[in-house]
Amino acid sequence: MIRVTISVTPRPYQAIIESGLLQRSGTHLREILGQRKQLFVVTVPPVRRKWGKMLMASLTSAGFTAKLLEMKDGEPHKKLATVEELSEKLSRMGADRESVVIAFGGGVVGDVGGLLASLYMRGVDLVQIPTTVLAQVDASIGGKTGVNLRTGKNLLGTFHQPRVVLIDPAVLSTLPEREFRAGLFESLKCGVIGNPELFRRLQNVQIKELRENAAALEWMIAESVKLKADVVSSDEREGGLRRVLNFGHTIGHALETETRYRRFLHGEAVAWGMIAATRIATIVNRIDQAAAGQIIDAVMGLGPLPKVEVRSRNILRRLQADKKTRDGVVHFVLPDRIGKVEIVNNVPENAVIQALDELRQLSRNS
Ligand SMILES: NC(=O)c1ccc[n+]([C@@H]2O[C@H](COP(=O)([O-])OP(=O)(O)OC[C@H]3O[C@@H](n4cnc5c(N)ncnc54)[C@H](O)[C@@H]3O)[C@@H](O)[C@H]2O)c1
Ligand SMILES: [Zn+2]
Repeated sequence: MIRVTISVTPRPYQAIIESGLLQRSGTHLREILGQRKQLFVVTVPPVRRKWGKMLMASLTSAGFTAKLLEMKDGEPHKKLATVEELSEKLSRMGADRESVVIAFGGGVVGDVGGLLASLYMRGVDLVQIPTTVLAQVDASIGGKTGVNLRTGKNLLGTFHQPRVVLIDPAVLSTLPEREFRAGLFESLKCGVIGNPELFRRLQNVQIKELRENAAALEWMIAESVKLKADVVSSDEREGGLRRVLNFGHTIGHALETETRYRRFLHGEAVAWGMIAATRIATIVNRIDQAAAGQIIDAVMGLGPLPKVEVRSRNILRRLQADKKTRDGVVHFVLPDRIGKVEIVNNVPENAVIQALDELRQLSRNS
């Protein structure tokens, strides 16, 4: 079992990572939540069908009264209307200030469940039990909650840190392969940002073997969680340092919006974004060719990736409109070497265009 502390104010919390943890989740929660009784588990049908019984049995045998609340599956349901529906259900089921919301699913459930917990009766306790790679290595840590508006993703949200994050890599066994791979890119991102050893392991990974190797999965998830925990602990609300986590996300987001979130899974768009950022870093002479080549090969090695068929001009326009853009200046997180990135705000437009052209070419040839 690996425990990682996320040191935020006023109350630090832990992520507990262990294969088979779901079956023991009741015991852990009893320790953390004390004598409280009422738990409300927010989830989606695919997760309930595969893992719902195991979780509910564990909670019940630890003496909790646990009730399930379902939301519809998928990103289109990550909207305020869903939070309102779930709130009505909570209220009808008798949830009070002492109740605890458990977000049990991928990043969508984590974001919706988190927002629900932060708003219901002005805030109740939240527990994250993430069930996708993306949610286990990234989304469940750090306390960001949110829903989409028609005008853009994640535009409505809060910070609401969970009491604990329970991560059981065993639940990933039922995850579709494409989803599994897509999540790994966020882990590879952590490697490039600040963990060369994690990078090296992912560089040589056989996906099929990783899926079957509980110890390797635990390690990979724990190292990613540690990196995010370190960054979040020192910069809870994304003042400066937290922005290094956006490596690959500047162009990644633009690709997602340009293709209306239909072509790429989030991690896949980030994968192309990491390649683009690495190319930009090469063009502006921030990284040497060999290291850049290693990053690009590592990304491609976790593929296949959907092809990039977008106009560079359109991507540039999207970059200007991004909510993370400040005063019209686009900030890029660029790698200096494997394990070190920096925020750069004076990237010339032609370097971006050149990198995007190369991206298209690479995707055509892959
Ligand atoms: N809050 C944050 O800091 C943060 C960070 C990154 C991403 N996110 C958000 O996370 C969301 C994406 O999350 P995601 O990639 O987990 O997508 P998701 O939640 O939609 O899950 C992907 C699919 O996998 C299914 N699934 C989940 N667990 C499963 C399991 N164990 N077995 C079989 N199927 C399973 C889901 O039902 C869904 O169909 C986005 O909305 C993104 O904005 C949030
Ligand atoms: Zn991401």
